[in-house]
Amino acid sequence: MSSPVKIIVVGAGNRGENYSDYARIFPDRMQVVGVADPREFVRVKLQTQHNIAGHNSFKDWRCIAAREKFADAVLICTPDRLHKEPAVALAKKGYHVLLEKPMAVTEEDCTEIVQAVIQSNVMFAVCHVLRYDPIIHKIKLLLDSGVIGDTVHIQHLEPVGYFHFAHSFVRGNWRNEAESSFALLAKSCHDLDLIHHWAAGRRCIKVSSFGSLCHFTKENKPKGAASRCLDCPVEAGCAYSAKKIYLDRVKRGVVGWPVSVICRESLPDIECVTEALRTGPYGRCVYECDNDVCSNQVVNMEFEGGLTAAFTMVAFTKEICNRKTTIYGSKGELSCDGHEISVFDFLTNETTKHHADLTAPGNFAKGGHGIADFHLIHSFISALKEKDPSLIRSGPMETLISHKLVFEAERSRLENRIVFCESSCEDHL
Ligand SMILES: NC(=O)c1ccc[n+]([C@@H]2O[C@H](COP(=O)([O-])OP(=O)(O)OC[C@H]3O[C@@H](n4cnc5c(N)ncnc54)[C@H](O)[C@@H]3O)[C@@H](O)[C@H]2O)c1
Repeated sequence: MSSPVKIIVVGAGNRGENYSDYARIFPDRMQVVGVADPREFVRVKLQTQHNIAGHNSFKDWRCIAAREKFADAVLICTPDRLHKEPAVALAKKGYHVLLEKPMAVTEEDCTEIVQAVIQSNVMFAVCHVLRYDPIIHKIKLLLDSGVIGDTVHIQHLEPVGYFHFAHSFVRGNWRNEAESSFALLAKSCHDLDLIHHWAAGRRCIKVSSFGSLCHFTKENKPKGAASRCLDCPVEAGCAYSAKKIYLDRVKRGVVGWPVSVICRESLPDIECVTEALRTGPYGRCVYECDNDVCSNQVVNMEFEGGLTAAFTMVAFTKEICNRKTTIYGSKGELSCDGHEISVFDFLTNETTKHHADLTAPGNFAKGGHGIADFHLIHSFISALKEKDPSLIRSGPMETLISHKLVFEAERSRLENRIVFCESSCEDHL
């Protein structure tokens, strides 16, 4: 395809705007020609940024499904519970689909999406951004090259970050399972996907999991604390104070995430952040929210051939999402701190360091998982331009298998038992 890939953004919030930036950097590769979002502020913002014609701007994704196909692909970046319907309907309409994770919030819906994309013969990528992170991708290349011999055990830690957890999983969009999804799906589907990816085609046979919500409960509310941080007499002694997380940042001129997402209808400034803390969800006391998702969870897995894996997700960390991984093999040990990889060779007793190019263009360079986001959207656009689905590292079947592993792990936690995994996803399509 020599002309730019034409894209429609479904859900122009944080993630939708983020991926759309690719078109501003590479207008010859991608063009945003349509948008759907009920929020006028974000919809008009995206419309202006990309010069989208008024007749291609909608309040709801259903308007796109009702129209003749007018683009090559859709980026579906709606909230977790609004993934299945647009993904199925727009795939059936012939759009290639980039879908935010989690694919959907039930196994049945995940399967239905995969059936729809396969039957419609469209390209499909799920935003498992970690697969596209250059340093994490390097781990996969090293494992495949055999540097540590046969992989025997994978130990993987996801430190969520104390204020990130308070922002997203106590006060924010992913706090309540009925409104979004359980924490292992919302936060750690990336990690179980990676473990499955590193297992290199070996099927997970059985899984067990434990976890619960600790600390962010009514019983732990400090004596004398108010319901909102702006009114709280003991706020100064609270690490999770909304004043510290949002107001102090905006006062220092720091307006990126998480400040950027709390003013829903305007750009963040001191007035709108103060108003959001006074009236909105992000100003609530963390001990008095309607949150119910786990703050810490472990998952143990056994794969074919005896490979074992141990995964930990924990809220109470200094690091924010910077995963720590150690992989033990028959010939050596590989560890990654998120920045560099060390491989210790049992034969030579030598450690070799490996690095990756961690640069990205434009706003993608700004930190967080911008670099991985860049490689993800770049791969998706390249796959479409070159008509080569192999450029997508998170396609339908591998994503369905790793999502099923997440549901099986959660079943183990809830039912307090070892879960024996399904024999094959293909059988269920
Ligand atoms: N891949 C990752 O690492 C990653 C990171 C963060 C979030 N996410 C996922 O991305 C998705 C979006 O998250 P976000 O942070 O951008 O949320 P957001 O709230 O900023 O954006 C979601 C947007 O969808 C819009 N929307 C709601 N109903 C709609 C409809 N009927 N039609 C069109 N648009 C509609 C909302 O108005 C909102 O603007 C979520 O599923 C989330 O879990 C993935």
